[in-house]
Amino acid sequence: SIKACLFDLDGVLVDTAKYHYLAWKRLAEELGFEFSEHDNERLKGVSRMASLDILLSIGGIDLDKATKLELAERKNNWYFEMITKMDDSEILPGALDFLKDCRENGLKVALGSASKNAMTILNNTGLTPYFDAIIDGTRTTSAKPDPEVFTLGASELGVLPEQCVVFEDAEAGIEAAQRAGMRSVGIGSPISLGKANLVVASLGEMTVTRLQEIASV
Ligand code: G6P
Ligand code: MG
Repeated sequence: SIKACLFDLDGVLVDTAKYHYLAWKRLAEELGFEFSEHDNERLKGVSRMASLDILLSIGGIDLDKATKLELAERKNNWYFEMITKMDDSEILPGALDFLKDCRENGLKVALGSASKNAMTILNNTGLTPYFDAIIDGTRTTSAKPDPEVFTLGASELGVLPEQCVVFEDAEAGIEAAQRAGMRSVGIGSPISLGKANLVVASLGEMTVTRLQEIASV
């Protein structure tokens, strides 16, 4: 049976995509090109430096490593300024109730996020106490679709991969779950998340009962 839920952060528990977008857009504008919301879809679930590479390729710009590090830091400073103002009103619909539902039913709960800003976001939204383990971008070396973040989460919770369900809004995250040997629930569109065991529009559609149904798949 299922013993643990592993949650991605951005796009699953909180809506931070808009802040990432505003910060990347500002950087693009400083570099002299437009960056659309459509382009931003390509950055979901992608690490900071890989996101910058995609952004620069859209602008047709090639830069050395040192400049890229400086630009990534500049973007992160703008992003950080926005997320320090976040509060619990920015928790996505259904997320808090489902986290509570998990805990009340004795399931273990972990975070599995690529973000190096995860702790700031969890603390500002009041979500930190709901987690038994927190694995974020400061604790991993390989980005999704590498399974590292979820494998580490399961081992810290003391559960086996087949006892875990991963919640993800990004294709790379669903792939990471599969590579870790875990079941997954996609949050968003069945078109891009078709490889997940179940796709829901939001965590508002999730219950622990539904979770155990996935286990029998
Ligand atoms: C998540 C987001 C990405 C972001 C990445 C790194 O995966 O979906 O958009 O680039 O985390 O976040 P960070 O806060 O470390 O820049
Ligand atoms: Mg995400």
